[in-house]
Amino acid sequence: MFKHLFTPFQIGNMELRNRIVMLPMTTGYGEVDETVGDRFIAFFAARAEGGAGLIVIPFSPVAAGSPAEPGIFADRFLPGVSRLTAAIRAHGAKSSCQLITSYHVILGNGTPEAVGPSPVLNQILRRTPRALTVAEIKSIVAAYGSAARRVREGGFDALEVLVGGGYLLNRFLSPIANLREDEYGGSLENRLRIVREVVAAIRAAVGDDFPVGVRLNLDEQMPGGHTIAESVPVARALEEAGVNFIDSYTGWHEASVPTVAASVPKGGFAHLAGAIRGAVGIPVIAANRINDPFTAEKILSAGQADLVGMARALLADPELPSRYSRTS
Ligand SMILES: Cc1cc2nc3c(=O)[nH]c(=O)nc-3n(C[C@H](O)[C@H](O)[C@H](O)COP(=O)(O)O)c2cc1C
Repeated sequence: MFKHLFTPFQIGNMELRNRIVMLPMTTGYGEVDETVGDRFIAFFAARAEGGAGLIVIPFSPVAAGSPAEPGIFADRFLPGVSRLTAAIRAHGAKSSCQLITSYHVILGNGTPEAVGPSPVLNQILRRTPRALTVAEIKSIVAAYGSAARRVREGGFDALEVLVGGGYLLNRFLSPIANLREDEYGGSLENRLRIVREVVAAIRAAVGDDFPVGVRLNLDEQMPGGHTIAESVPVARALEEAGVNFIDSYTGWHEASVPTVAASVPKGGFAHLAGAIRGAVGIPVIAANRINDPFTAEKILSAGQADLVGMARALLADPELPSRYSRTS
């Protein structure tokens, strides 16, 4: 019944037992000091025990003062991270850290501040972010490098950088939020610069053999924003920059187009992953509304992706992979 879904897959030196990726989800289970504790670890260990191949977990590489995403911006986070990755490994799954910076960061003075490439109204925050200086951009890039070192030391098998959701790095990439006139704005090459620098800083920290991916917004679903037409050259540039896989994302939190609602047909955005898979030689993960193994198998057998991502399906039913693998 499932010719592809329960077959192993290799990304670099990481061997996955099947094609099911648990997509990153903030859980609210982090501790108030932004570390991870027993509740957080138990949640992800249960999904590993349930049979997912790869489990992606969001962490903040830059201090943000947010209880939503646990931190990986200091060495004090390492004991919790090591316990988390060991618990996942014990159940035969692999773990990947998503480095996520949303809208706020703490730069120096201890107060979370809404920042962006340019002072363009953020409709979710109902606030206009302050434009980062070049020195601040460099410090954020360096923070991604330091975080990546901890990702490896903490026992993760891979990492991905989020460039989606209308969050910080996505705002740099997109012409609708990036009005800069320096080397970080203007042409597509300039708007991609911070992402390239982040990838380079990460690669320098983790070495050549560690799988590094980008979760890329393939269609921003925003007027004037990137569509797949711009995302194909971006994905190619990322592949050339040494990125090892692309995880699909679509939409901004500010967009009115539904991307996760029940009105979206099952696997309704897999064609975006398919367009990228046809354009690059690195593995691609499909996402959005893949909530049963039949939809997942269909996407794999159509050649639209190498791996299928599930978020809420595994939130609701941690044992979905193992139950169906017994029937395959
Ligand atoms: C509670 C929740 C938290 C999420 N947090 C993140 C996140 O931190 N990073 C991210 O890239 N996507 C995040 N997402 C998006 C999911 O990874 C996924 O793309 C989306 O839910 C669509 O997949 P699904 O239909 O399988 O749920 C989140 C989704 C949910 C429901």
